[in-house]
Amino acid sequence: MDALTIDTRIGVIGAGAMGAGIAQVAAQAGHPVYLYDNRPGAAAAAIDGIVRQLGTLVEKGKLDAAQRDATLARLQTVESLEGLARSGLIVEAIVENLAVKRELFQRLEDLCGEDCILASNTSSISITSLAAPLKRPERMLGMHFFNPAPLMALVEIVSGLASAPALAARLYETAKRWGKQPVHARSTPGFIVNRVARPFYAESLRLLQEGAADCATLDALMREAGGFRMGAFELTDLIGHDVNYAVTRSVFDAYYGDFRFQPSLIQKELVDAGRLGRKSGRGFYDYAEGAQRPAP
Ligand code: NAI
Repeated sequence: MDALTIDTRIGVIGAGAMGAGIAQVAAQAGHPVYLYDNRPGAAAAAIDGIVRQLGTLVEKGKLDAAQRDATLARLQTVESLEGLARSGLIVEAIVENLAVKRELFQRLEDLCGEDCILASNTSSISITSLAAPLKRPERMLGMHFFNPAPLMALVEIVSGLASAPALAARLYETAKRWGKQPVHARSTPGFIVNRVARPFYAESLRLLQEGAADCATLDALMREAGGFRMGAFELTDLIGHDVNYAVTRSVFDAYYGDFRFQPSLIQKELVDAGRLGRKSGRGFYDYAEGAQRPAP
């Protein structure tokens, strides 16, 4: 099965950390990209962020000015879901909530053409369950990028019970053409990476709760002795605690309350306080003036 052709319009819904990154990847690969967010100004702010990202790539000599301009010319925001009607692929990257995502896909099904592939960037929600209310559940798949999407190579192509194998193959080839390293995964809770990563977060949070060491020490140990690129606290600050906590709850519920996946009250406190990590300026660390300092 061939990749989507570069004239295929790509719709991206949700212009947060992931949606902005996915829009950038698709536009850099040559597609016309339409970005929608239901929060006024969010999609335009995401484009501003992409302008800065591409500017940095030009400064570093990884992109030339003509490529930057061509990429930006392919990106536009739309004010309503109707603006995505002519897409050949829609990638959803909104809040990690089954009911909200389900409602969105049901609306999309009525708006989009027969051939449009519907994909979710969900980290943990069952693709089978997202597809269930659709009239054509075979066109629903997971296309799960990692953060930051323009830099991270891995993409999980997730198939639910009803997903068409031919469309999974098409998304796999498309991700490859976008310069990514895709893998096929069945829709199990947390798929592959987020399932394996849960104990890493959970045990780190338990160590912190038990007072074994502070978060900066634990992060440094995981990096320097454990060989991880980031420790659990700086990584969850990057992911966003609202997102990471929602994913843990989703995997915990899906495995009928298995203790291994039990959400952390420390993380719940951060979410309740609005200390969501880098995106809110504070999580386990304080990000004032761009630095990363342990939060008081
Ligand atoms: P985010 O909070 O940065 O962005 C979400 C965006 O979606 C916001 O701009 C919000 O206004 C918008 N939104 C919410 N509901 C909407 C709706 N009904 N219609 C249109 N727009 C809506 O979240 P982030 O981190 O980008 O995550 C988005 C999705 O990607 C989630 O499903 C998450 O699990 C998944 N994901 C997150 C990763 C991460 O490291 N943050 C990594 C991989 C996947």
